[in-house]
Amino acid sequence: MSETFPRNLRARSAHTVEGPERAPHRSMYRAMGFTDDDFHKPFVGVANLHSEVTPCNFNLDTTTHHVKAGVQKAGGKPIEFRTITVSDAIAMGHQGMKGSLISREVIADSIEVVTFSEAFDALVAIGGCDKNLPGILMAAGRLNIPAVALYGGTIMPGRFQGRAVSIGDVYEAVGAHSSGRMTDAELDELERKACPGAGTCGGLFTANTMGSIVEALGIALPGSSAIPAVDPRKQAYAEASGAAVMRALELGLKARDIVTREAFENAITLTAAMGGSTNSVLHLLAAAHEMDVPLTIDDFDRISRRTPHIGNLKPGGEYLMADLDAIGGVPVILKMLLEAGLIHGDAMTITGRTMAENLEDFSLPTAPQKVVFPVSQPIHSTGSLVILKGNLAEEGAVIKVTTHDESVRFRGPARVFNSEESSFDAIKSGEIQSGQVVVIRYEGPRGGPGMREMLGVTAAIVGQGHLDDVALITDGRFSGATRGPMIGHIAPEAAVGGTIALLQDGDIIEIDTARRLLKVDLSDEELAKRRAAWSPPAPNFTHGIFAKYARVVQSASKGAVTTE
Ligand code: FES
Repeated sequence: MSETFPRNLRARSAHTVEGPERAPHRSMYRAMGFTDDDFHKPFVGVANLHSEVTPCNFNLDTTTHHVKAGVQKAGGKPIEFRTITVSDAIAMGHQGMKGSLISREVIADSIEVVTFSEAFDALVAIGGCDKNLPGILMAAGRLNIPAVALYGGTIMPGRFQGRAVSIGDVYEAVGAHSSGRMTDAELDELERKACPGAGTCGGLFTANTMGSIVEALGIALPGSSAIPAVDPRKQAYAEASGAAVMRALELGLKARDIVTREAFENAITLTAAMGGSTNSVLHLLAAAHEMDVPLTIDDFDRISRRTPHIGNLKPGGEYLMADLDAIGGVPVILKMLLEAGLIHGDAMTITGRTMAENLEDFSLPTAPQKVVFPVSQPIHSTGSLVILKGNLAEEGAVIKVTTHDESVRFRGPARVFNSEESSFDAIKSGEIQSGQVVVIRYEGPRGGPGMREMLGVTAAIVGQGHLDDVALITDGRFSGATRGPMIGHIAPEAAVGGTIALLQDGDIIEIDTARRLLKVDLSDEELAKRRAAWSPPAPNFTHGIFAKYARVVQSASKGAVTTE
């Protein structure tokens, strides 16, 4: 083994196992079954995000088992450790959602701390739910060692009344049920059928968006992401991911060698083309921060403008992630974009080959399909991610345009709420009228804290039949399952005195995606008067991690990171 892997490939772990002074360390390892041979192998940390808190991560133990086998077969010594996840769908709609974005930091911090402290030579991390892959990317960037990300995979579709359904349908059904458009029996049947087993939420929501993104960034094996969690092909990719990290170690390919500026541009292009989650803006900004790559919120708008929207995927479109897998997965879209000259084919990837070289192994679908449109005949001529600015969002706000025409124009009176709960009560009791702009504030990174996603609210609006005639703006976030004219990530947020804090019921809000505009019809003098009378509310938490997070978290326009 020592000939196969020279000492410089295990330079980090060698500090923990070589020489007489490390006898105590070896003794600890021997207690876990390590042999003399193992001390000559590179140590590969295997971060397993398995959990029983969510179906998204429910079978990651199996996937991790295969990753370890791949590392072992390639001559390395896998060392598994665990970290946490939060279930976004189960945290949704109550105070628990304030912990979701914080979990991204905990995942990143915990992987960094364990990998650093144990002096692992390389890392494979296996994640599922929304914040897993962002946390994994951030940790990989901080550690800058050979690293592979593996996405656990989507859930299979459920079947209800003859159609494929996912968890997003259940959330919207709550709105339909509350407005009398769905019976108790129908809601009960849908609840039982929407989630048929392990895997992440089935549409192109945040987890599947981030799963696709890690392929575009080159840090996951090409073709690994769209495969459903319960499909045996996933386990073959798991084993290959273990082998891939050993190969990257031999090649000296570190995370920052792969996840470069070009890789981020590829990821943004893919997301805009697919119609991916608005959360990708937050997570890619945070990952770029940790990879030490310059990236701004304006890069998303610039790239989205030049990218055709071709993914006919829920929530904006018709198909689920499993349908994308059936026509060839993420490489199909990447290859179409490559052929159109829209992505950097020379970007290096974890395989040791470039993006273009990887994509030579994949073919475009030959049979007719409607999951992905041709670049020459896109759903929209520009990408789905739009960054808005104006006196309501000097630093920026994000909207996803997938269900609408090329642009969204909306002008209407504000209905202002200081929390998600108060807005949800008003929506449920039918107080929200066509033409209004629902404003939900003090839900930003610092204000919530934790920038809650508001799928319960947005789905209730849609479920009540207001898909296009009610808009919503917030300094919080949306689930990837949200659809309709919903604008999130407004920065500066209300808690730091952003203009959204100054709004009153009846103020006229204007949204115009063609002009990239989000503004309130108030004069500078009126805004200055209101600002002078404004004072920040008392924090929602005064101790524990929520208070700590609120003290250090930065603006959503900078990825809501917690490190300098
Ligand atoms: Fe985990 Fe949706 S709750 S992906």
